Amino acid sequence: MSDVALDPAVLTDPRAHASGEVYEVWRWMRRHAPVHWHSSGTYPGFWSVTRYEDVRQVYKDPASFSSTRGVMLRPTALGTDPAGGVTLALSDPPRHGAMRSLVADLFTGRSARELERQVRATARTLVRTAVQSGGCDFVHDVAARLTMSVLGRLLGVPKQDCEDLLGWMSQSFEAGRPLATHPEFMGFLAELMDECAQDPGDDMVSRLVTGTLDGRRLSPAEVLLNCENIIGAAENSGLSLAGGVLAFARRPDQWALLVRNREHLPNAVNEILRWTSSATHSMRTATTEVTLGGRTVAAGERVVLWLPSANRDEEAFTDPDEFRVTRRPNRHLSFGAGPHACIGGALARVQSTALLSELLDTGRWFEPIGPAEPVRSVVVGGPAHLPVRVTAFPSDGDAHGVRPTRTS
Ligand code: HEM
Repeated sequence: MSDVALDPAVLTDPRAHASGEVYEVWRWMRRHAPVHWHSSGTYPGFWSVTRYEDVRQVYKDPASFSSTRGVMLRPTALGTDPAGGVTLALSDPPRHGAMRSLVADLFTGRSARELERQVRATARTLVRTAVQSGGCDFVHDVAARLTMSVLGRLLGVPKQDCEDLLGWMSQSFEAGRPLATHPEFMGFLAELMDECAQDPGDDMVSRLVTGTLDGRRLSPAEVLLNCENIIGAAENSGLSLAGGVLAFARRPDQWALLVRNREHLPNAVNEILRWTSSATHSMRTATTEVTLGGRTVAAGERVVLWLPSANRDEEAFTDPDEFRVTRRPNRHLSFGAGPHACIGGALARVQSTALLSELLDTGRWFEPIGPAEPVRSVVVGGPAHLPVRVTAFPSDGDAHGVRPTRTS
């Protein structure tokens, strides 16, 4: 390992995230500057936290590290986050707990299992369509549509409107603009909120428009910001899955291992989550003076938790730079930890499991047919575009003595 000092400043450069340069810098920081102060510039000043145990300490202590002043780096020029104290993600206890319980049962393992059949059917259609088309963009044509099959159901979006929502999401994503600034999306959501208020169903928008918090109904703006938050968060699933396809392309032996040993599927899904760490960071603001990794964080200072770094911490994982479908235990922090731990984790796992199962059952896989175009962001990581085609599991599989077996 090189001990030449590397520059932590690159962590605020989206290009360094897109190129993967950040991994080398994080490795150096975990060793030499695990809790490091960045002076204000494009972003207000903040501490970078790169070690697994320090990241966990912050996540598990919401009394000392607040979420209401924002959970992601936000350019100084944009001022404070309007979602602060409003959305689930940007609330502190006790409001956070009350808000989470308004919607929590829609996200349980049981709810996720009820969605399994539907998501699997969508995965089957998507793989067949990809076969027929000869080639496609995995991110747009497969992952985003799989995510939509979960999101549509969760939010209570009628099937016929899912295609529109998908279009607005991808326009906002491409333009790097919040979905809430899309006029058609706003109009659509206002209508949906009205319908759900009049005839509530068992979905998230109905829960938000009919539920009460501190003895009052949520305002339309509060419902809107929460829906936008969920949609944005759910986009992580697609990035992670696309990153998983790339990981298998680089390590076909790991796919071969999975083909031979289907019982590794849950581990493989978990390893994709660790390896891709698609949510790049979480941010908190200290409410009091705290010691973290030997440094003193003052009240009011921001701390940024770099999840891909925590997930490659040599102290927490054996051979962290190896992608291994057999990895166990695998206590990655890709979903965060503590009271704000990802509420959609079970749903994300259902999506990956459905797609991988479909590929394993049909003896196929996604083969990249062109370079992946990475997302340029300090907030999320993964391919923005990934040209692929569906092929039979390659002759490489024979070389490994592999024959796909149908198990379900
Ligand atoms: C691979 C997929 C996903 C990853 C890597 C991921 C990552 C995360 C992380 C790291 C957090 C913690 C943020 C913090 O503490 O500041 C989080 C929270 C959250 N996620 Fe996910 N997420 C994924 C999928 C989803 C899905 C599918 C949904 C919804 C359908 C979702 C909805 C949420 C929400 C609402 C929160 C805030 C929870 C709270 O504050 O109580 N996520 N996610």
